[in-house]
Amino acid sequence: MAKLSKPDDSQDNTGSPGNSDAARPNEADVDLRKQAEMNLLQPINAARSKRHLVIGAGQLGRALERALADMRNPVRVITRAELDLRKPERFRKILDGEEVDRVWLTAAATAVDWCEDNAREAELVNTDAPGVIAEICRDRGVALAHFSTDYVFSGIDGKEPRKNPYFEDDEPDPLSVYGRTKLEGEARLLDAHPDASVIRTSGLFSTDGKNFFNAVYAKGKAGETVRVVNDQVTAPTNVFHLAGWLARHYEQIPRDITHLAAGGGVSWRRAAEAAFELCGFSTALVIGITSEDLGRPATRPRYSVLGSRILPKLALPHLPSWLEGLVLWATEKTGRTQA
Ligand SMILES: NC(=O)c1ccc[n+]([C@@H]2O[C@H](COP(=O)([O-])OP(=O)(O)OC[C@H]3O[C@@H](n4cnc5c(N)ncnc54)[C@H](OP(=O)(O)O)[C@@H]3O)[C@@H](O)[C@H]2O)c1
Repeated sequence: MAKLSKPDDSQDNTGSPGNSDAARPNEADVDLRKQAEMNLLQPINAARSKRHLVIGAGQLGRALERALADMRNPVRVITRAELDLRKPERFRKILDGEEVDRVWLTAAATAVDWCEDNAREAELVNTDAPGVIAEICRDRGVALAHFSTDYVFSGIDGKEPRKNPYFEDDEPDPLSVYGRTKLEGEARLLDAHPDASVIRTSGLFSTDGKNFFNAVYAKGKAGETVRVVNDQVTAPTNVFHLAGWLARHYEQIPRDITHLAAGGGVSWRRAAEAAFELCGFSTALVIGITSEDLGRPATRPRYSVLGSRILPKLALPHLPSWLEGLVLWATEKTGRTQA
């Protein structure tokens, strides 16, 4: 059984509420989070069921479908084959044939480097489409929730590297086309549908999606080395935790922007090491490099941990820590219970 060693505290400077030791939460936190997770999984009163339409069949779209269905809500997922967000007006016709209370817009151009090289297409999908979808939902009186990203922030405070979480009222300053187009999409959506909600999250992963952990897992399983950046700190968020939270609390998601990401913060290198430990692979296979070494087209923030001041105000729970999300992922991935 894999055992996780003491995390590298130098990477952990999040100060996220309830997660002061971000990589290894204390026992009280774990108890609270276990309780919160159990609450996430409890079925709700069928009388509260709403009809949901999820746009996008990616990691989050599929996880939301499962979580909403588990809560006995009728839910349908719209794939790219049915609605290409480069032509979002088609959604009006789709909605005409549906009885829907709530739309979740999870589809987006999420490949950060692809966006850098395909800026116009990224704008169509990440900026223009959310505005059009919001107009259509507003005209039909349908609730709308949309998703955005920690990459709307730069990780820089003046000239200094950021060391504290970004809250909802911090000024965004994206570094990449992806971050900029997502930020502009937030504004378009909220202009068109002022009652809509935008949920900013970070580093989404699941056991079956295209994501960082599944990519390094494939390498580790093959006994190959992975080169991973030391100098980007974020909070990888298990979509199971995010979708479970949303399915349970969707009626209470505030209008405007809310940050909802895993607790704590970690560098991708340390996160890869933790994944390898949990999966029983040698951490010597993980080689730390810098962002410059990697030389990707799009610049990523060096620090983009999200904190929320809105959740505690509404007495809503935070998500479990990134490490709890990773343990869940590793348990599912390897079929082994983690110590
Ligand atoms: N992934 C992350 O790490 C992350 C972090 C922070 C925030 N977010 C945000 O969270 C949301 C969900 O992300 P995710 O991880 O579920 O993304 P994902 O797994 O990459 O899924 C994105 C979905 O969007 C679809 N899509 C892309 N272009 C489209 C188009 N032109 N028309 C219709 N559908 C299109 C994709 O379809 P195909 O499969 O056919 O390409 C895919 O099903 C997004 O808004 C994203 O910006 C993600």
